[in-house]
Amino acid sequence: MSDRKVTKIGVLTSGGDSPGMNAAIRAVVRTSLYHGLEVYGVLRGYNGMVEDDIFKMESRSVANIIQRGGTILKTARSKDFYEYDGRKRAYDNLKKRGINGLVVIGGDGSFNGALRFSKEFDIPCIGLPGTIDKDIAGTDFTIGFDTAVNTAVEAIDKIRDTADAHDRLFIIEVMGRDAGYIALHSGIATGAEHILIPERKTDIESVIASLQEKEKRKKLVNLIVVAEGDEFGGAEQVARVVKEKMPNVDARVCILGHIQRGGSPSCIDRLIASRMGYHAVECLLTGKHNVMVGIQNNKMHYTPLENAVKAKQKINEEWMRIVKILAS
Ligand code: F6P
Repeated sequence: MSDRKVTKIGVLTSGGDSPGMNAAIRAVVRTSLYHGLEVYGVLRGYNGMVEDDIFKMESRSVANIIQRGGTILKTARSKDFYEYDGRKRAYDNLKKRGINGLVVIGGDGSFNGALRFSKEFDIPCIGLPGTIDKDIAGTDFTIGFDTAVNTAVEAIDKIRDTADAHDRLFIIEVMGRDAGYIALHSGIATGAEHILIPERKTDIESVIASLQEKEKRKKLVNLIVVAEGDEFGGAEQVARVVKEKMPNVDARVCILGHIQRGGSPSCIDRLIASRMGYHAVECLLTGKHNVMVGIQNNKMHYTPLENAVKAKQKINEEWMRIVKILAS
């Protein structure tokens, strides 16, 4: 707990955008104004702090954005902020406006920056988990995951229709450089036969053996959902092996890509973003500083930024068992 009084808050979005970031910005702005604080938007993540692209926000600055994907503050992965000189410039730009509290909406890379910055320049920072990957520990939800996974499910359902019409095997790649949550959830929800994720070693031989067994019993429509960061190498790699070992199988690859990052946020993402944004300001006001605001078991949960950057959300073993049993 800190008894330092926060009077002016800066808010930024950093790293990959995620649907619901706008709802979070809106909540931070409106809660700050409700408490009589000044609130400033920082453009393009930490770049805006370094380059002094900072503007004062009013209630109307966030009108009509709750339903929009992307982020009105824009986002970036800032190279300058990795250097001390960049962070010092960023601090000077905040200081000249009297900004003495920061809300960073992003993933663990963004929290790393916030942690370093708060330590070096003694500006309290609050992290809000904004990432489609859901790879952050200390929260059951991250802003954008629900929308992204629903986008993936909608797309995979469509692929299943055409797979079924042609008796084809589809290998579908979803996002997740280091995390398999989008693959796991969308794969289970669409009845995929195999789900390959970075958190588990891919046993390609056993995938092939299982497909061969299915081929024998004339089960020709099969979906494999692969996270882009799967250690075996993504959908193209899997397809290469399948085609090599099973030349008679009609296999196609579909890479869903960035459509998973865009679009209007789901109701769940709007709700958690609003709730987390509200609590971010409450944290700054009540002296709960340098934490990530999360939700666990429907209650607010605060993780020190130090821990938020270290711990990854683990894949529950039960899910893996469910995948295996339901796809048999
Ligand atoms: O934001 C997370 C994420 O969408 C990952 O799932 C993906 O690997 C990465 O960002 C892609 O980043 P970029 O848009 O910079 O290529």
